[in-house]
Amino acid sequence: MKARKRVIQGSTYAGKTYGIIPVLIDKAAKTPNLKITIVAETIPAVKDGCVDIFKEVMQNTNRWIDDNWVGNPMQYTFVNGSRIQFKSFDSVGKAKAAGKRDILFINEANHIPYSIADALITRSKETYIDFNADQEFWAHTEILPEPNTEFLSLTYRDNEACPKETLEELLVKKSKAFHNPELEEETGLYNKDNIKSQHWANWWRVYGDGKIGTYSERQIYNYTIVESVPEGIKRLPSGMDFGQSPDPTCLVDVYLDGIDLYLDEVFVENNLMPEKIEGAERMSISDKMDEVKHPKSWMIIGDSSGRVELKDLVKNRYNARGVKKKAGSVSEGIKRMRGYNILVTKRSQNIIDGCNKWGWKVDENGKIIPEPDGHEPDTLAAARYVMLAKAMW
Ligand SMILES: Nc1ncnc2c1ncn2[C@@H]1O[C@H](COP(=O)(O)OP(=O)(O)OP(=O)(O)O)[C@@H](O)[C@H]1O
Ligand SMILES: [Mg+2]
Repeated sequence: MKARKRVIQGSTYAGKTYGIIPVLIDKAAKTPNLKITIVAETIPAVKDGCVDIFKEVMQNTNRWIDDNWVGNPMQYTFVNGSRIQFKSFDSVGKAKAAGKRDILFINEANHIPYSIADALITRSKETYIDFNADQEFWAHTEILPEPNTEFLSLTYRDNEACPKETLEELLVKKSKAFHNPELEEETGLYNKDNIKSQHWANWWRVYGDGKIGTYSERQIYNYTIVESVPEGIKRLPSGMDFGQSPDPTCLVDVYLDGIDLYLDEVFVENNLMPEKIEGAERMSISDKMDEVKHPKSWMIIGDSSGRVELKDLVKNRYNARGVKKKAGSVSEGIKRMRGYNILVTKRSQNIIDGCNKWGWKVDENGKIIPEPDGHEPDTLAAARYVMLAKAMW
């Protein structure tokens, strides 16, 4: 990798950390007076991880000199004056106070708050980041879109030195996750019918396949993608969220089968007019409903504050009803929806993105606070109105 910021994502046992540390040792040995900082979430984490690997590699290559190691604070000084220090930071202030450096390695970076990482990265000429992507986080949203960054994704299959016992252990977990573990993602590994345990399937995605997890403790809605809604199950009213520009208006069809709740996105459309006006250039919501052939008599639940929109839908003979936004209705709706097993049709890209993105708040220490963080995705609001209108179905 050549870029100034190198982002290395992957499964467990992919050889990420064991690959990066020798690169840092090599740089330290070749260039005099480098300052290299290796950071993990806590001191025990850095000790049990990177320090152990560092010592092992140094000893195996006959480089280790006991006198060059200081245990507190942990640092190894090479004969050419280069040093590698091992640290953890619990505040932005301390990260800033640690000064500038040549090379930074943030190990298990998803456990480090962005504010601390940013303070460190800003003061480093070159940065390495490694992690298991149990969810999308600042490496994806902040670092990768920046110039001079590079991404590498690895799995245990890339590690020729992956121990036999580990491989066996990983494949046991894979077989707990899937009925047919031989399939690939493209041939349906993660399809609903192939999932034996959602928990282990989620685990496999991150720790086996090295991909970004679709489920984390932070995510408000855990879901499974399905090809389509099964025939013959109960259909609930559809949910609609009215969008004031730039927010789109959207319609979500909802079905129920026992505790399985199916969500199917019908449309997500910008710039629909709230009322039908003869001769107008732009489509109205009811024009759009005509276009998608929504059955006129089928109940649609929208937010009651969309008075104009609801009235116009009714005027155009759609069975639209409003649900009131009472205090606490967001958390009430979320609670009801989370009571179901949520299945999302493959075509519902906005619902899928919404579920992936929308999470609970987290404090600086990574502790989850059970309050939604940020704007509720429109399609999820539409589905939530249906939950809130339970008395109507
Ligand atoms: N270059 C190597 N030479 C020898 N053994 C290696 C090498 N790379 C990896 N290994 C072996 O593979 C194991 C796993 O590698 P490593 O700890 O780097 O994985 P990782 O991708 O960082 O995993 P995790 O996400 O769990 O931290 C190491 O403990 C080591 O036994
Ligand atoms: Mg590692």
